Amino acid sequence: RSLHSAVSRGSSHLARRGYSSESTPERKVVVLGAAGGIGQPLSLLMKLNPLVSSLSLYDIAGTPGVAADVSHVNTRSEVVGYQGEGELGKALEGADVVIIPAGVPRKPGMTRDDLFNINAGIVKSLCTAISKYCPKALVNMISNPVNSTVPIAAEVFKKAGTYDEKRLFGVTTLDVVRAKTFYAGKAKVPVAEVNVPVIGGHAGITILPLFSQATPQANLDHDVIVALTKRTQDGGTEVVEAKAGKGSATLSMAYAGALFADACLKGLNGVPDVVECSFVQSNVTELPFFASKVRLGKNGVEEVLGLGSLSDFEKEGLEKLKPELLSSIEKGIKFANQ
Ligand code: NAD
Ligand code: LMR
Repeated sequence: RSLHSAVSRGSSHLARRGYSSESTPERKVVVLGAAGGIGQPLSLLMKLNPLVSSLSLYDIAGTPGVAADVSHVNTRSEVVGYQGEGELGKALEGADVVIIPAGVPRKPGMTRDDLFNINAGIVKSLCTAISKYCPKALVNMISNPVNSTVPIAAEVFKKAGTYDEKRLFGVTTLDVVRAKTFYAGKAKVPVAEVNVPVIGGHAGITILPLFSQATPQANLDHDVIVALTKRTQDGGTEVVEAKAGKGSATLSMAYAGALFADACLKGLNGVPDVVECSFVQSNVTELPFFASKVRLGKNGVEEVLGLGSLSDFEKEGLEKLKPELLSSIEKGIKFANQ
């Protein structure tokens, strides 16, 4: 038995060395808000990701328990929990990707903008720390209202002299996840094969799924497209109402956040043709930030892709969303510069 365990120890040691030093670079991922409804399952999913070598879990409370729990999962990454502002610097140092699901969620009857007063301040202080401790990290902003928190982050980084538009992302992957699921149901196609770009922003009518570009193609009636569009735009509210006061999407968001962080890591590692939709600094429209397909690479955004051709219904949706999206962006910029 001792020979067997010596051999298996030896081979797993070799396998580990081969894995990390030859094929997969060391990558540190930080979750800010790791003890929350999104933070906990997202931390678990990042622990399952073999591209992560170091997983840093930060929250103002509750992180030691979450970190101890997640750390027992027998996967590659080392897990460390950090609690309270005094430990934020250590949590962030050396980060390659920082995922931010910190802040309050909606209750029924609220809009995402109703979260602004609390979450804007949280995001501002977390981004101030990022600019100090890991200015080169890719930032994945989940905290709502994303249409404003991303511009807040950009302004904070500009003031600190660390802004790089290639490294700041609003996470809109949940809109894509929803659009794919809802489309597959109506088009009767296997959901795993479905692709649907979602552009604009991440709130109500600013979420614009482009079902005219959905693949596999299906000849859905216009009223079905209209209903699918509305369901995608209201997907967050559907969950908020079903949870009836106990918060908003956490599990599907953790899944979406893990998908997007994985795409960022693949880009950093030089995997070619990694394309995801994200809310980024953009000149695809006249708005300073806009969600569209983005090619990810070794420095973050490699290319912001254009919108492609839109149906008349989508063109109309695009014009309708611009004033609301612009005003949310401007609200964020104004707050950060107060
Ligand atoms: P939650 O209340 O369950 O968890 C939030 C966590 O943030 C808590 O653990 C809290 O302690 C922590 N926190 C608060 N202030 C902090 C600070 N200064 N530093 C670090 N952590 C801090 O909420 P949740 O359901 O996880 O949602 C979090 C946010 O994500 C909300 O703003 C919600 O609207 C947003 N959200 C975004 C999307 C999206 O698609 N982008 C989807 C779902 C939810
Ligand atoms: C979502 O889309 O589920 C999130 O933005 C949370 C919310 O408030 O709807």
